[in-house]
Amino acid sequence: MDTTSVWRATAPGPGFAMLQDDVQCDVLAVGGGITGVTLALLLAEQGRRVVLLEAGEIGSGTTGHSTGNLYATTSQGLSEIASRWDDDVAREVVTQRKAAIDFIELQCRANPLAVFTRCPLVLYAREASDDRGVEEERQALARAGCLVRLDDRVPAGLPAARGPVMVLEDQAQLQPQAYVVELARRAAKAGASIHEHSRVLDLDTRNRVATTATGSVKAGEIVLATHSPKGFHLVHAEMTVHREYAVAFEAGAQDPGAGIFWWLGEEGLSIRMLGQGGKRYVIAAGPEHKTGVHNAKASLLAVEHVATQVLQPGPPLYRWSAQNYRSHDGLPYIGRDHTGCLIATGFSTDGLTWGTVAARGIAAELAGQADPFLQRCSPGRFTPAKGARTLAEENVATVRTLVEDWLTHGQQEQLSSLAPGDSAIVDSEGETFAAYRARDGELFAVSAVCTHLGCKVRWNSMETSWDCPCHGSRFRPDGTVIEGPAIAALRRKQAQLG
Ligand code: FES
Repeated sequence: MDTTSVWRATAPGPGFAMLQDDVQCDVLAVGGGITGVTLALLLAEQGRRVVLLEAGEIGSGTTGHSTGNLYATTSQGLSEIASRWDDDVAREVVTQRKAAIDFIELQCRANPLAVFTRCPLVLYAREASDDRGVEEERQALARAGCLVRLDDRVPAGLPAARGPVMVLEDQAQLQPQAYVVELARRAAKAGASIHEHSRVLDLDTRNRVATTATGSVKAGEIVLATHSPKGFHLVHAEMTVHREYAVAFEAGAQDPGAGIFWWLGEEGLSIRMLGQGGKRYVIAAGPEHKTGVHNAKASLLAVEHVATQVLQPGPPLYRWSAQNYRSHDGLPYIGRDHTGCLIATGFSTDGLTWGTVAARGIAAELAGQADPFLQRCSPGRFTPAKGARTLAEENVATVRTLVEDWLTHGQQEQLSSLAPGDSAIVDSEGETFAAYRARDGELFAVSAVCTHLGCKVRWNSMETSWDCPCHGSRFRPDGTVIEGPAIAALRRKQAQLG
């Protein structure tokens, strides 16, 4: 199934050259999503020598596969932050996130392609059992000083509410790919060296050297803006990893207008409209699923089915998915970790705003301005009581999966018996391989053992990838890394491929 986001399909391409040299700089940012690009711009404007390395294209990771929604609350709910921490921390979260949205708005003034629009966030329930969640969120937002009110109905075109409707005013939406591409251009203009197709293959954190296939960067500081930090970091043990699926349809006759529409519940969707290039789209994103332990195609089709039933849109035009990393206590991890690198991760599904908060905070920190919020978000914080239960529940599921994987042998079949489009975990010559035969007949067989910390990968039928359930590393059928903490590719099986 072709998976391209509406953002990446409709934004101008970036077009930065690959790193072709051994260079030195003050700060190396690894990752060309909203965090890395915003940071590169801010540092270049400070007059620092900054290099940005992106494995694919600018925005090709989670930024270009997000929903484009910007909000002061969080997708898990400000009420969740208030109950895990307290109202003061919830207020800090809102303050930081509001400031990030204002910053993005400012950057969009000269960039009409970013389609920045102020709009309300509407949260509602379709089942009586979810009413309480709506009210708790309203109260938490009100205590944090947000302009929030209750309504008794949702705009025409959305599935009806069965209870209170919460309206949080003055949130925003943008075209995230167009935004980040323009920011990267401005960063380059301000002096940043930006390189696409420059995957870091080796990271020497002690000597601050990153090596790609065609060059290396020695830096005074390294910032891992890779959504999940590359290599071994303590935060990986504290985060859960999920994927969610989205579909952009041609808009139908019903149009609820500008807004971030969230409906709670098992089938709940996040819905928004987009007007771009003379076309009108309705975008629906569904609930999240734990990476590596769900049926990706079924999850996507479920979103498409529910959205078609309740929104009655035109035909589906784009389908995509994105991964998110959720911290154990509701706050992101931003700051220096035990390797000496600066990291920014644990954004859950709120990464456009948290990524901007992180970039601004790190840029200020590197300029010698201590940021109290960054200290709260320190990767080294010890707050087990604020998230132990969630983490334990997720980890039990993961451990069960891993034990099953290691006790279950692969199929005793010849790799040659795989039909085009088939995948299998295969025992062959005393080893377990992850095998896939492409539609054109080419056979790929790679080690099934994730190069990060050794869990077994699982097949993702929608995105033709091998996904690791432990910390979310994902690999192409040929073993090369797509995303996640793994740096090395899955080892390819050389012989007996027929
Ligand atoms: Fe950590 Fe696979 S991502 S073991």
